[in-house]
Amino acid sequence: MKIQENISLKDYNTFGIDVKAKFFVEVTSLLQLQKVLELKAYPEKFILSGGSNILLTQDIKALVIFINLKGISIEKETDSDVVLKVMAGENWHHLVLWSLDHNYGGLENLSLIPGNTGTAPIQNIGAYGVELKDVFKCCTAMEIASRELVEFDTERCQFGYRDSIFKNKAKGKYIITSVHLRLTKKNHQLNTNYGAIENELKEMGIVYPTIQDVSKAVIAIRRSKLPDPNEIGNSGSFFKNPIVSKKLFEKLKKSYPNIPSYPISSSEIKIPAGWLIEQCGFKGKRVGDAGVHEKQALVLVNYGNASGKEILDLATSIQDTVKKKFNVVITPEVNIIR
Ligand code: EPU
Repeated sequence: MKIQENISLKDYNTFGIDVKAKFFVEVTSLLQLQKVLELKAYPEKFILSGGSNILLTQDIKALVIFINLKGISIEKETDSDVVLKVMAGENWHHLVLWSLDHNYGGLENLSLIPGNTGTAPIQNIGAYGVELKDVFKCCTAMEIASRELVEFDTERCQFGYRDSIFKNKAKGKYIITSVHLRLTKKNHQLNTNYGAIENELKEMGIVYPTIQDVSKAVIAIRRSKLPDPNEIGNSGSFFKNPIVSKKLFEKLKKSYPNIPSYPISSSEIKIPAGWLIEQCGFKGKRVGDAGVHEKQALVLVNYGNASGKEILDLATSIQDTVKKKFNVVITPEVNIIR
């Protein structure tokens, strides 16, 4: 375990923002993590995992701790279910493929989401009708102040739409070290109701899909719409889809009869932020190396050398324009590090 100095973080965040960590250390065991957290010489610490949900806007003066804990193991198994213990540093999509290779069901709709397993609970990752919480049993986290391991079950995690206790009350206090997921071994519950999946399976000529087929469909959809962070820097959806009052929605619908929407409750409606942003003319727009993806307006991209500030400026101008045109506030899903 070596503390390095002045390390570029370009390869450690999927936006590919080139800022420097004044101090940087990689940890590969819980013991190392405990020791690093005890280092008095570096009172400020910054926890970095897959770097898939952050926008870095300046150099980091704190000690950057890169969580590289690896391992997938079976915790418990019955005839029908399996509980996996997945260490935080395991790449999420690698885990999805591993589970499909073993014919374990539950993660197929969450294929190809960038990032690591340890950060999945923080924003309760979700796609195509499934969220992490649907397969989640619990996670283990190290409390930074005491260096003790604490367990968070589903209830304690307070999962919401792209939200959890780790974005609220527990923010900055814990490091998730492993995640325990409950998957099925047989009688898999397929979630193929999402329109895009249904269409894709039809195009693939599949009538009775397996979990592997669903994963292939999701991968095809994502590849067709979302940029690959290995090719163009991005953090997936930059904003959350806003939830507005039914009253505001009815008003908007009068001016924009084609506005897409999902009912949330009797009084609330979710509107796709991608649609709002596209209506404001931002889709495919580029300012220097910062841009709005041409196929999905919810995704901001770095074409090469954009700074975090340039991406943030573009995001702010999108927020302002959407507010002005629709009177709807859109908030970032991505964690902005200022
Ligand atoms: N739309 C537009 N223009 C756009 C993008 C979308 O009009 O540029 C419209 C679409 O036509 C559609 C609606 O918006 O009617 C929804 O679009 P889509 O199905 O692509 O999903 P989304 O709401 O934009 C959410 C998640 C994605 C997830 C997909 C599929 C959020 C913030 N994003 O996007 O998650 O993959 O649903 O389930 O909830 C992520 O979080 O990083 C992410 C990619």
